[in-house]
Amino acid sequence: MCGIVGAVAQRNVQGILLEGLKRLEYRGYDSAGMAIRAGDGRLQRCRALGKVAALEDKLVAAPLAGHSGIAHTRWATHGRPSEANAHPHQSGERLAVVHNGIIENHEALRDELETDGYSFASETDTEVVAHLLEREARRGDLLGAVQRVVARLDGAYALGVIHADEPDVVIGARKGSPLVVGVGIEEAFLASDPLALLRVTDRFIYLEEGDVVRLAAGGEITILDAAGTPVTREIQTFEHGDGAASKGEYRHFMLKEIHEQPAVIAAALEGRLGDRSVLVESFGPRAETLFAGVRQIHLVACGTSYHAGLVARYWLERYAGVPVQVEVASEYRYRQVVVPEGTLFVTLSQSGETADTLAALRFAKQRGYLGSLAICNVPGSSLVRESDLALMTQAGPEIGVASTKAFTTQLTALMLLTLALGRVRGQDPDEQANLVEALRGLPGLVRRVLTLDSAIEALATAFGEKHHALFLGRGAHFPIALEGALKLKEISYIHAEAYPAGELKHGPLALVDSEMPVISVAPNDELLDKLKSNLQEVRARGGELFVFADDEVGLAEEEGVHVLRLPHVHEALAPILYTLPLQLLSYHVAVLKGTDVDQPRNLAKSVTVE
Ligand code: G6P
Repeated sequence: MCGIVGAVAQRNVQGILLEGLKRLEYRGYDSAGMAIRAGDGRLQRCRALGKVAALEDKLVAAPLAGHSGIAHTRWATHGRPSEANAHPHQSGERLAVVHNGIIENHEALRDELETDGYSFASETDTEVVAHLLEREARRGDLLGAVQRVVARLDGAYALGVIHADEPDVVIGARKGSPLVVGVGIEEAFLASDPLALLRVTDRFIYLEEGDVVRLAAGGEITILDAAGTPVTREIQTFEHGDGAASKGEYRHFMLKEIHEQPAVIAAALEGRLGDRSVLVESFGPRAETLFAGVRQIHLVACGTSYHAGLVARYWLERYAGVPVQVEVASEYRYRQVVVPEGTLFVTLSQSGETADTLAALRFAKQRGYLGSLAICNVPGSSLVRESDLALMTQAGPEIGVASTKAFTTQLTALMLLTLALGRVRGQDPDEQANLVEALRGLPGLVRRVLTLDSAIEALATAFGEKHHALFLGRGAHFPIALEGALKLKEISYIHAEAYPAGELKHGPLALVDSEMPVISVAPNDELLDKLKSNLQEVRARGGELFVFADDEVGLAEEEGVHVLRLPHVHEALAPILYTLPLQLLSYHVAVLKGTDVDQPRNLAKSVTVE
């Protein structure tokens, strides 16, 4: 999704902006550009279709130089990917703007500006902002102009603006799209994601809704809130270090992140487990009181996070006895939701900035919920700040667009939530102690599963020429099948569907033949015998089976049936463990097919538009 970088520095900002764009590449984009105010007051701009490398080539041929500038990676919403539609957008030669989000009233504003004599060079909604700002800036300073213009914008935006008449000044503004200020030494920066700036600072101010900020020479930072009042916002230190931005010994970020799972699952558990029970206080001081009143849960998320929510439903109902409803955020937010008394609203999001999930939270706040809990991977994100309680998943920055470690740490956090609610609601202490023990052993088991990497790589060769695949699971492993199918389609572009294995005979069995590989997860649980019968139905139709099975399950390898054995695990935690071979399978299939594993076509890491 779109990314913003801005800088006011004593050195030439081109390198800072370019490095920032490269660090935002993982979010997915189709074009990039930057604008810098030169020492003589001219605005210089460079834009390119495609990767940041294309922009870099142009900059090598014709470098820009100056002490203040803005840059952008674009993911097309209004207007196709092209150089003309790439940001920064200019109004005349004196003002440039970069924008994330969507201006919903752009058509009306465009009509007004055309009537006023402005002409448009792009198909974007952003260009109206450039012209509005140019018009307002003629009446005063740039900061005031931005304040007056944002008051007229409907929709979501994060903005970065420079003007030829204001040396060493960058203005930023946010509403509905994330924006942080990087605090340097006599330098100041702007970005939609702190990762963009880790080369130059680890100190950040997370702007609030409606904030407008002015960065000026000498590292001067002035923030005005939505009412226009100057405010001081806390400076937070970024804790994850900068290691995330490099692939290290791995060929792709996705593979690196798959292999980080033992460590990050351990991090997600750290400080949250007592001897025989989960530490409810680790959810925050208000958690115990809030959880005591919970009668049911509405869980809302998108994409991979939604699949984590589907798994949690099985856990929460079985171990905590709480009824759970799980829904995708884009549907939930437009529904007439009935909220029974004592309902906790839970959002799940690795980024904490997904537009639909955030909108669902805001919608839920008007609906009389008991309270809200965000399970999230980004501490300063909008979702965390706007929820009553937050549980951080501790996965560290995830760069690969296809979510891996963010998912398994979400599941870990959801198991902790299950145990916390179970504890407050009188779960059998021995059952809780058992699960706590099993959680302690989980990182070690995950590590053992990762040693199957080369065996899974060998299985992947069977998928190179396939166009479709079917994933099967039962119970809490049906969502794992859904996640397996999502991974495969996201990065290898093979059409994949997931079904609860018991549904096979109600339709998808018609698709099964030798060209349709069927992948199944078969942990040793109470549904195993039923699953085995379903797999026989596939074999009988000539479908080739790939089964990830518990060590103790008597499933024989035979012609057309490939069985890969996983270590035995507590049945409640099996969904976490069985996710790994499916991640590795998709990864190796994608590598085999030569796709862009970390940045699959058309997708974005953080979807900040509706
Ligand atoms: C995008 C990403 C997915 C992610 C989904 C929800 O589609 O590509 O990997 O699952 O957004 O994101 P969230 O940050 O809310 O978990």
